[in-house]
Amino acid sequence: MLLLHLQEVDEKLWAKRLGKLLGNYKIVTRDDDFNPDDIRYVFVWKPRENAFDGLNNLKAVLCLGAGVDALLTHPSLPKSVPIVRYANNDLTRCMSDYVIANVTMHHRGFSRFKNDQIKREWNQYYPPPSWDISVGIMGLGVLGADAARQLKSMGYQVNGWSRSAKNIEGITEFFGPDQLNSFLEQTDIAVNLLPLTPETSGILNYENFTKLRRDILQDGPAIINAARGGHQNEVDIEKALKDGTLGAASLDVFNIEPLPKDSALWRLQNCYITPHIAAISSPENGASYFARVIRDHENGLELINLVDMDCGY
Ligand code: NDP
Ligand code: OXD
Repeated sequence: MLLLHLQEVDEKLWAKRLGKLLGNYKIVTRDDDFNPDDIRYVFVWKPRENAFDGLNNLKAVLCLGAGVDALLTHPSLPKSVPIVRYANNDLTRCMSDYVIANVTMHHRGFSRFKNDQIKREWNQYYPPPSWDISVGIMGLGVLGADAARQLKSMGYQVNGWSRSAKNIEGITEFFGPDQLNSFLEQTDIAVNLLPLTPETSGILNYENFTKLRRDILQDGPAIINAARGGHQNEVDIEKALKDGTLGAASLDVFNIEPLPKDSALWRLQNCYITPHIAAISSPENGASYFARVIRDHENGLELINLVDMDCGY
């Protein structure tokens, strides 16, 4: 039996889609009458505190998101049950779309021309060609690797920073804390696609912004954060955007979401805010993915895209 515990998304729609795909496999939600001992899979998003109570026969926790940072801090998450996270083409393609849109915007000096337009000023500035721009992807996982490949095929120089080698053709790779400085020094536009862990928390900070390369983009380097708000120090971003340490920032995620109305970031012209929409797990594609996970596992196959509990992602 599958239990749905989805908040802030259309749980009924997910139940309907999963129901269609799983045939007579029993699906229940929190409001239904069921025996917790019969639940083999629980499918969660922003689970309440009691989400796992009494679920003693779980085979897997299925997480609607790609990022599991919040789930891993859930006080009653069963420690010995494997977690399957969402990793699928639709999510990956959407994220690469977001990354490409923002990289090209900063490369082409969007903030500068918008400012000139407001002042009705005709200032000819020719942005450098794409092959002179170095985009640095922080996190070369499912999402980062795809963004890296796509940007490379568009002509950008692409660097990647991760913990282990990925050997992606044409991408210069840097590893671990020892090579972070070299990575930043060779980056004009930094794209954060890291998971939020104790090691990566607060990595988008003023000191690291000062290390980015400054001589290619005339208005200064740019950052793009599409991972988690906990990666960024928002006071540092405000300061860097004001004093020119950063030319621009695109932020899809924030320490507090929704971003509070009194945040200074709203008012900065070179800060591009989106409300955590870079990539979404759609019910259409997501239901096929999770239905397949359950069906395959019930048929004796291994679970896929498991979270490594020691690494925290
Ligand atoms: P993956 O787990 O596939 O990839 C994570 C990458 O980060 C890996 O390359 C990993 O290195 C690297 N990494 C982890 N820790 C470190 C570290 N300490 N130092 C250097 N590199 C590190 O994650 P995904 O690509 O699937 O997703 C990334 C994040 O994107 C999610 O965790 C989530 O927070 C965010 N996200 C945001 C969305 C949005 O709409 N804004 C939507 C979906 C996801 P290695 O491979 O060597 O282990
Ligand atoms: C995710 C997200 O982690 O939407 O999937 O942020």
